[in-house]
Amino acid sequence: MANVLIAGCGYIGTALGSLLAAEGHTVWGLRRHPATMPSGIRPLEADLTSPDTLQTLPPALDNIFYTAAPDTHDDAAYRAVYVDGLRNLLNALTLQQVRPRRVFLTSSTGVYGESSGAWVDETSPTQPTEFGGIRLLEGERLLLDGPFPATVLRLGGLYGPGRASLIGQVRRGQIAWDDESPVYFNRIYRNDAAGALRHLMMLQHPDPIYLGVDHEPTTLAVLLDWLAQALGVPPTRPGESSKARTARHPANKRCCNAKLVASGYVFRYPTFREGYAALLTDQAG
Ligand SMILES: NC(=O)c1ccc[n+]([C@@H]2O[C@H](COP(=O)([O-])OP(=O)(O)OC[C@H]3O[C@@H](n4cnc5c(N)ncnc54)[C@H](OP(=O)(O)O)[C@@H]3O)[C@@H](O)[C@H]2O)c1
Repeated sequence: MANVLIAGCGYIGTALGSLLAAEGHTVWGLRRHPATMPSGIRPLEADLTSPDTLQTLPPALDNIFYTAAPDTHDDAAYRAVYVDGLRNLLNALTLQQVRPRRVFLTSSTGVYGESSGAWVDETSPTQPTEFGGIRLLEGERLLLDGPFPATVLRLGGLYGPGRASLIGQVRRGQIAWDDESPVYFNRIYRNDAAGALRHLMMLQHPDPIYLGVDHEPTTLAVLLDWLAQALGVPPTRPGESSKARTARHPANKRCCNAKLVASGYVFRYPTFREGYAALLTDQAG
């Protein structure tokens, strides 16, 4: 059994922590406001951007997951969490002579600059144009060039319980899509993101980088059409309804999960269909 620290223990972190705790691992969940941590995860109050609060980390940590996310969508907040916060944690581990077997970082498919709908994988060039991707890539390099064995999981858009606002928007006719210019996006259900991290932790020698996306990059038109049909509501087209916003997605690429799958991970929600079907069933229950 392992001693595990999840730094920035939020949406993915609590799902991962609960999974690992149920298997008997000892799990600490670090965040600034840890009062609502699920049972099984030991709360640890600290601020990753403030080194003073990181002075008493749990000893003998085997695995560390860095799953923090900034509160606001601006460059300063992204740099503070993905670069400075990560550096503070690595420094604190070194100072306290904690030598984890591996540190894992949840990065994002936003590190790719691709926007023409082409396929990308772990070997594709990373040329982010947005500050988010730029800071995440900086964090990736800091970790992979750092003092501990490390693995990065580049996640697609997360969805799952509590993050399924699309369902309500489609039901109310508040979102429309433009199927004349298809935009591909990549998703992963929360439990598969947590499951993939657990899987990588169990591997003897994981690679430095994996893509964490489901099997099917999808255009918004396909997803929203499927949801409208599943909900039994008419699809909304751009301009049809004054209350509908036309969905936009900044990037346009198809991310390939072949490497994660070849490493042995089996998706519980292989495409958006299984994921949203499960969410619709939960909502109906
Ligand atoms: N959401 C997506 O669609 C998506 C897509 C691709 C990649 N990712 C990556 O997946 C990771 C996790 O995403 P998520 O949705 O699970 O994140 P989240 O729940 O929004 O945030 C994670 C936690 O970070 C903690 N945190 C923020 N600043 C902190 C600080 N200074 N010190 C300590 N803890 C701090 C927050 O708790 P407190 O407020 O209590 O501190 C929060 O619970 C992120 O690295 C993100 O980049 C997410």
